[in-house]
Amino acid sequence: MLAISLYGMLLAIFLDSALGQNATIALPLPTKTLVQLDTQGTVFENLLVRQNGDIIITSLHPQPIAYLLKAPWSSDPKLLFLHRFEEVDGLGGVVEIRPGTYVVAGTKWEGLAAPVANATVVQEFALDENDSVSSARIIARVPEAGFLNGVVVAPGSANLVLGADSLQGVVWRIDLTTGDSEISIDVAEMKPLDPHGVLRAGVNGLKVRNGHLYWSNSNLAGVYRIKTDDNGYPAMGAATEQVFRLCDASGVDDFNFDHEGNIYITTHIDNTLYRFGEDGSTQLVAGALTDLGLAGDSAVAFGRTSFDEHVAYITTAGGIFSPINGTITEPAKIVSVDTSGIAQ
Ligand SMILES: *[C@@H]1O[C@H](CO)[C@@H](O)[C@H](O)[C@H]1NC(C)=O
Ligand SMILES: *[C@@H]1O[C@H](CO)[C@@H](O)[C@H](O)[C@H]1NC(C)=O
Ligand SMILES: *[C@@H]1O[C@H](CO)[C@@H](O)[C@H](O)[C@H]1NC(C)=O
Ligand SMILES: *[C@@H]1O[C@H](CO)[C@@H](O)[C@H](O)[C@H]1NC(C)=O
Repeated sequence: MLAISLYGMLLAIFLDSALGQNATIALPLPTKTLVQLDTQGTVFENLLVRQNGDIIITSLHPQPIAYLLKAPWSSDPKLLFLHRFEEVDGLGGVVEIRPGTYVVAGTKWEGLAAPVANATVVQEFALDENDSVSSARIIARVPEAGFLNGVVVAPGSANLVLGADSLQGVVWRIDLTTGDSEISIDVAEMKPLDPHGVLRAGVNGLKVRNGHLYWSNSNLAGVYRIKTDDNGYPAMGAATEQVFRLCDASGVDDFNFDHEGNIYITTHIDNTLYRFGEDGSTQLVAGALTDLGLAGDSAVAFGRTSFDEHVAYITTAGGIFSPINGTITEPAKIVSVDTSGIAQ
């Protein structure tokens, strides 16, 4: 009975859109697994959509590997090994600093989510026209950092990268030319809150938009922003603003903007994806606490081609930090969610 009525509902939606009428969008939206690793205990941490639409993916555990997902919109996207980074056990965020050149953060691990002291390094790598890694080198050591999670290019300065230190709850400013680093932003809304939580983490994802640095705070389940200057510091007199908090989520991981400026955010331990609209509305877009569809979703990014500009791509950690129904985990995967039905 349930299956039949669900089918009827989907059919009605299909007919509505086929007839060009306003369709009722059924949320949560379906999730589609594009590729999945073979091994349990694997964690995809971050992703970056290249200008040509391919996706660079970082692995946090158990190997410090970057992968490339070719043509994610196609019927059979391929996951390729790109590079295994030296001196680290796992990777955090990745960002493009120039066309074809990327910066990735990494560290050593004592156990899952237990980084080794004095082991955080920032590495640069470049891809050639055939998607081969043509160079890779350490450009900075950030010995006092806990774990560098999200990384972004500082607004107005191509030679500065900002990195979110989730454990200390600060943002590091890393000079790519000299390799020097210092804490440049340290505000209360970046701190980890719950010392006994499943994942103790404050500032996590970082994004830059309209002269502001946006960040998610995992333990606060919220997104905040502060106006920054061209040197990676808060602008004169700038104060933190809360963008939104999710009342229904136990925590959040990384987030991103779609092409219209709405924010999509992963919740990781809740296995869900939320959307915060420009109009101030909050919606559960995909996933469910007891479902494997977005098990341990860790980061999200939108497609950049005409085939997939409204498709959200999501990395997962297979639920290993908080197994589904207490016991169920799976290998890391890349999932797509087509958001084109949601009013843009
Ligand atoms: C669809 O929704 C828009 C905005 O709510 C409304 O102006 C329009 O008349 C609707 N179209 C149909 C076919 O219902
Ligand atoms: C940190 O690591 C660097 C490079 O491995 C080493 O030279 C330095 O002595 C270490 N510092 C501390 C305080 O352990
Ligand atoms: C890319 O591959 C083509 C065809 O195999 C080759 O001719 C070209 O030299 C390669 N480019 C680089 C940068 O290696
Ligand atoms: C978790 O438990 C719920 C309730 O029993 C069930 O509906 C759901 O399918 C389970 N999830 C998985 C991944 O087995």
